[in-house]
Amino acid sequence: MNEEMLNIKNLSVSYSDINILKNIDINVKKGEILGIVGESGSGKSTLIKSIMALLGSDAYVDGSIRFEGKDLLSLSSNEYREIKGNKISMIFQNPTEYFNPIRKISKQFIETIRSHKDISKLEIKEKTIDTFKFLGLNDGERVWNSYPFELSGGMNQRVAIALSIMLEPKLLLADEPTSSLDVTVQAQVVGELIKLREKLGTSIILVTHNIGVASYMSDNIGVMYGGRIVEYGQSKEVINNPKHPYTKMLIDSVPVRNGKIPTGIEGNPPNLKNIQDGCVFSDRCKYASQKCRNEAPIIRYCGENHWSSCLIEMEEVAL
Ligand SMILES: Nc1ncnc2c1ncn2[C@@H]1O[C@H](COP(=O)(O)OP(=O)(O)OP(=O)(O)O)[C@@H](O)[C@H]1O
Ligand SMILES: [Mg+2]
Repeated sequence: MNEEMLNIKNLSVSYSDINILKNIDINVKKGEILGIVGESGSGKSTLIKSIMALLGSDAYVDGSIRFEGKDLLSLSSNEYREIKGNKISMIFQNPTEYFNPIRKISKQFIETIRSHKDISKLEIKEKTIDTFKFLGLNDGERVWNSYPFELSGGMNQRVAIALSIMLEPKLLLADEPTSSLDVTVQAQVVGELIKLREKLGTSIILVTHNIGVASYMSDNIGVMYGGRIVEYGQSKEVINNPKHPYTKMLIDSVPVRNGKIPTGIEGNPPNLKNIQDGCVFSDRCKYASQKCRNEAPIIRYCGENHWSSCLIEMEEVAL
């Protein structure tokens, strides 16, 4: 469990003059599930796509991304192709990005799986239909024989998850894997992803808006805001003892069952085009002082592996 699978250091991503990600550091061990949470536009998908080299040629990427010790940013496209699908697999936020809409699911499964594994077509079909069932797709035979455009968004999302599971990757990048699913099937899907980790020691990066799903599933959580990770630590530490004002506000904005009205977070995420010196969250932070607006935040460790990037001494403001 201590073996390092993915190590990202000082990763920054920009498009023309806009800095989308800044100084991202992430470590994922074998079998670890890392949850990435944060509002829309905070850079979660950009982070995932940078690991898969899917950013497009106009992106400027700086820093290092090492997978099993190999520097991914220095690989040729052929070497990358070998790793993708075989060792690293991704579930896209928008499943229509995943499949060719005018080729049957059956054809796409057979082609993709056989390009990585020596397995018969019949075996692929049987295993796929079983996997569909575990993911709540009971009409497996019909799904197998369908074109993606004949399936609903939620069905396509589960088909994409099934393919990722069947590829048995060492690292699974799951970008909002349950976003178009009913709550009733979400738990089933989450359960299957956890099983994958238990069965094969797969490491998972799970991107989600839902801090509840992240805390249930992940060992560690990284909280993103304005293209930065502002807090990082063990899930239960981050949820029970948040140190960054943004994390605390994110937790307070989750609806709960006791009738208490969630507080929400006033204001809007930052315009990444106009990031000034100082903390990116300072405009919306109720604790921010002039110093927070002028000076870059500092990393404060509040446990062995729990840190927050903030100038405020939390004890002073008792979050
Ligand atoms: N190809 C691109 N060119 C220019 N800007 C981009 C590009 N892709 C993403 N961005 C910008 O990067 C920022 C982060 O986008 P990203 O999709 O990573 O956010 P996200 O956290 O995944 O949001 P969501 O929760 O809505 O999926 C946004 O401001 C977006 O407009
Ligand atoms: Mg996204």
